[in-house]
Amino acid sequence: MPLEGELVILREEHPEDMVRLAALRNDLETQAWSKSLPPDYTENMYMKRFQGREFSYDPKEGRFIIISRETGEFAGSISYTGLHPRWAATIGLMVDKKFWGTGFAAEAQELLLKFLFTELGLRVVRLFTHSGNPRAVGLAKKAGFQIGIRQRQAIFKNGELYDNLSMDLLREEYFARHPQLVDNLPSLA
Ligand SMILES: CC(C)(COP(=O)(O)OP(=O)(O)OC[C@H]1O[C@@H](n2cnc3c(N)ncnc32)[C@H](O)[C@@H]1OP(=O)(O)O)[C@@H](O)C(=O)NCCC(=O)NCCS
Repeated sequence: MPLEGELVILREEHPEDMVRLAALRNDLETQAWSKSLPPDYTENMYMKRFQGREFSYDPKEGRFIIISRETGEFAGSISYTGLHPRWAATIGLMVDKKFWGTGFAAEAQELLLKFLFTELGLRVVRLFTHSGNPRAVGLAKKAGFQIGIRQRQAIFKNGELYDNLSMDLLREEYFARHPQLVDNLPSLA
């Protein structure tokens, strides 16, 4: 069942998305992570990852395609990985430049956070980015993420040194920002 917002829908991956995922990954602006060079990913690599996914009642990750609610157009991808049940997961997203600044990324991020905190009951959601990616840092801060760890000059990219940033959002911080949602899991504090 897709996660639905006002602007975007997060749906499962389809084989025809693989060519677009490879294109986003090979674009130096949209593959903004520190460990994604060189930009020589192929559709076949993505197809293998897609086909290699096994059925599981206990998945450790979830990957979604972001589509425009209005047109159905492919806009990017968002995922959580490294799930520790009821504890933590790490999110990542990449959005086609055509949709930067439209609110698609922010809504996709909020839809996934709501799922992770209210359905999976996580205590903390993490993400990784770097100081040379102000849009990613800005987007994360918009949802309430804070910089938990800054590794200074840990990343060399575009011929420059950047700080590696580990950002996190705690369960109580998420619910404090969403007073309309009720937290039914007791606090550990
Ligand atoms: C990161 C990404 C998903 C953000 O999507 P976006 O549509 O560009 O995000 P927004 O336009 O909502 O910008 C987010 C915030 O960044 C900040 N921001 C944008 N450009 C900025 C700049 N040049 N300098 C400083 N802050 C900036 C703003 O605070 C903005 O929030 P606002 O709308 O309240 O002003 C998108 O840029 C992307 O796919 N980038 C490549 C992949 C990537 O970096 N993924 C994240 C890795 S964790």
